[in-house]
Amino acid sequence: MKTIIEPFKIKMVEPLKMTTREQRLAIMKEAGYNPFNIRGEDVLIDLLTDSGTGSMSHAQWAEMMMGDESYAGARSFYKFEAAVKEITGMQHVIPTHQGRASERILFSILGSPDMVVPSNTHFDTTRANIEFTGARAVDLIDPRGLDPHYKAPFKGNMDTDALDALIREVGPERIPVCMITVTNNASGGQPVSMANIRKVREITAKHGIPLFIDACRFAENAYFIKQREEGYADKDLKAIAREMFSYADGATFSAKKDGLANIGGFLAINNDELAVKARNLLILTEGFPTYGGLAGRDLGAIAQGLKEVLDEDYMRYRIRSTEYLGENLIKGGVPIFEPPGGHAIYIDAKGFLPHIPASQFPGQALVGALYIEGGIRAVEIGSVMFGRWEGETFIPAKNELVRLAIPRRVYTQSHIDYVIEVVLEVFKHRDQVKGLKIVKDAPYLRHFTALFAEV
Ligand code: F0G
Repeated sequence: MKTIIEPFKIKMVEPLKMTTREQRLAIMKEAGYNPFNIRGEDVLIDLLTDSGTGSMSHAQWAEMMMGDESYAGARSFYKFEAAVKEITGMQHVIPTHQGRASERILFSILGSPDMVVPSNTHFDTTRANIEFTGARAVDLIDPRGLDPHYKAPFKGNMDTDALDALIREVGPERIPVCMITVTNNASGGQPVSMANIRKVREITAKHGIPLFIDACRFAENAYFIKQREEGYADKDLKAIAREMFSYADGATFSAKKDGLANIGGFLAINNDELAVKARNLLILTEGFPTYGGLAGRDLGAIAQGLKEVLDEDYMRYRIRSTEYLGENLIKGGVPIFEPPGGHAIYIDAKGFLPHIPASQFPGQALVGALYIEGGIRAVEIGSVMFGRWEGETFIPAKNELVRLAIPRRVYTQSHIDYVIEVVLEVFKHRDQVKGLKIVKDAPYLRHFTALFAEV
């Protein structure tokens, strides 16, 4: 088979600034070993997130120019609404400025103390928006899905026995909604099978519990279903996506991922009454229901992005380029969360730096080393994010991961080859990487603001 090339050519470039190792060492120290404190221009390859960091196509830029900025009833809104309806089949499409705004509106209506909201794995903003209402967010990932080295085609699946058990334990009246996150970002970017979505639908429907999909990476999930699940090889991605959404009563979405846009999102709902409540809240903080916190031009770009993301040539390249990074790291002996996810590779920092205990944040230490070695910015998903102290005892996270998230249509294969070289170089000298201690902690969402120093 021939190389799967980037299915686009480059029309506009943004120069990268080169830095020396000495400069990067000084920058990292100054940043307190926290990658969120580094200026974007001091980063050579930015793998901090795949959210809002993608490149738009010429057709999307054309939509930007054709944006209708009418306050109410803009042409761009109707394009957006039609594009979302075509994929989700949902009755009501409510634009928001990004995913967490959709979550905040949904859980402001459905969440309250005593309520319990299950998911395969909640993303942190989803969990935070649920907990903010006093409700409890519960992750019901199949326990094998947490083992970095367990290989399965749909490791993001929800444990449906656990869902059954939860419903029996708390009662369906205390579960206002069940979520399913595709792909499962907080669990290695792993996909969810159609069979699993169908089964979750069956269980929730039996108890009258609405099912919502956190659809940030719905198209990547659809491609995994096409590749890996029996009966889907000959279906196109749109048909697969439509089937996924057909089992749901609603969806939250961040257009910064599979919307191929730099900002935006939506809340899609079938229930009329819930949609009225959501629109009332939307007007309070986001905007009028035909723009919801976005400019007309943003709505146009998202409408076009939603078409392009379901293009099979694009998705073949997208999933293959992530897999290529993962494969080459595995070949070099680097332990990663397997199999490679859709939007990111998650390095297993516990296995990479076995000499650094969880209390000295091996993931954060690796993030520092990758930047100093090669100007690569990654993010820790481990004990900095999820660890906590109970008195004097440190309770670490289940996994110490470092996520290399791949922005969409931004980097070429030679950029990825460079990333592989840098990771392998750090791996060769891994015994020289030192653990970190916190010098300034934060009360919540520590990973954004805490400062560290080498032990
Ligand atoms: N749900 C999932 C699964 C996500 O990955 C994100 C964002 C959100 C919801 C919230 O969307 O950022 O538009 O408000 N994930 C980004 C990341 C930030 O880096 O993984 P948002």
